[in-house]
Amino acid sequence: MKRVSHLPPIRDQLGRAIKDLRISVMDRCNFRCVYCMPEDKFHPGFKFLPSKERLSFDEMFRLVKIFTKLGVSKIRITGGEPLLRVNLTDFIGDLSTLDRVDDIALTTNGVLLKKYAHELKASGLNRITISLDSIDPDEFRLMTGNRGDIKRVLDGISEAQVAGFEKIKINAVIKRGVNNKNILNMVDYFKDQPVILRFIEYMDVGNINQWQQKETVPSSEIIELISNKWPISPMKENYEGEVASRYIFDDLGTEIGFISSVTNPFCGGCTRARLSSDGKLYNCLFASTGADIKSWIRSGMDDYEIEDRLVSIWRKRDNRYSELRYLKQNDADEEKVEMYYIGG
Ligand code: GTP
Ligand code: 5AD
Ligand code: SF4
Ligand code: SF4
Repeated sequence: MKRVSHLPPIRDQLGRAIKDLRISVMDRCNFRCVYCMPEDKFHPGFKFLPSKERLSFDEMFRLVKIFTKLGVSKIRITGGEPLLRVNLTDFIGDLSTLDRVDDIALTTNGVLLKKYAHELKASGLNRITISLDSIDPDEFRLMTGNRGDIKRVLDGISEAQVAGFEKIKINAVIKRGVNNKNILNMVDYFKDQPVILRFIEYMDVGNINQWQQKETVPSSEIIELISNKWPISPMKENYEGEVASRYIFDDLGTEIGFISSVTNPFCGGCTRARLSSDGKLYNCLFASTGADIKSWIRSGMDDYEIEDRLVSIWRKRDNRYSELRYLKQNDADEEKVEMYYIGG
């Protein structure tokens, strides 16, 4: 019997279509950021995934093709640190051949960017986002668990620009008492450059970081701090459900953004599914469990069966963790997937 594919939009319980797939291709990272992979837990003896437990690129590619049938058109490659995964550019090259994929983006800490920028551009990658939490070399080193050399990251950004990447985004997570003192220095450094700096409210992803609300610096506070020195005004969103609130520097015309998942949650427009490096599908950044897609694939399931199951998972989806946190209706002790394992 010929089976018929489902037609997008596939909507969840809250009416949200599935449009983005964020794939963590690598659980390892060459940094040990204090709020993500603290050195005392991720020590040299820490057992990361054995490589056979990671989804292979062939498996990921097969899944992406199925996801595109359901309406996914935007892919973000994340980690850990995705550039640690060998042959990543070949995978991106394969993704770029898919007609239904119209945007491929990469989130990286930038350390290996100098080496890979041109290859990434040639492979068909559309956009790059760099995680960079401080412009002060000492503070940066401290935040990255004594690993990060800011010069290498800044060189990586320059090389990516030379390679032809435009509007590179710089993501800075601000943790009160740790890196909030250098916010203005960071703005000063990037405000005249053709990049988009975004400040991210520190969130309670995972359980390792033992998040406390007082460590989050609300975007409103950062906006006020910046506007007192360089006036900024809100801009229209690029697309419905955009994660960042965009602002423009009144005098410079350049853009800056704020991601306010704690003080202004955006679950209502969340069209994002997440695939972890070991092949589990998560409906939310704060989910505690994911569907074990790798076992479906490795048990020989055909594409139609996988598609049916994905549709059924998405249709049941009702996650809105950040909204519930905002309403103080979530369970603060619940176990959640860690960021290094699922990406941002
Ligand atoms: P583009 O608009 O595609 O450029 O990307 P983006 O704005 O979605 O941003 P990006 O993927 O760089 O995400 C930036 C940060 O926003 C992440 O590191 C997270 O901290 C946060 N974030 C992204 N997506 C979500 C989400 O679905 N929920 C929550 N709570 N936070 C998110
Ligand atoms: N809160 C907000 N953002 C986080 N990231 C990692 N952990 C957190 C957190 N607790 C960000 C990183 C990077 C992206 C992958 O996720 O800084 O930009
Ligand atoms: Fe690595 Fe990013 Fe986590 Fe830092 S925040 S340890 S760069 S995955
Ligand atoms: Fe989406 Fe979950 Fe983030 Fe809400 S908290 S925006 S549902 S990933």
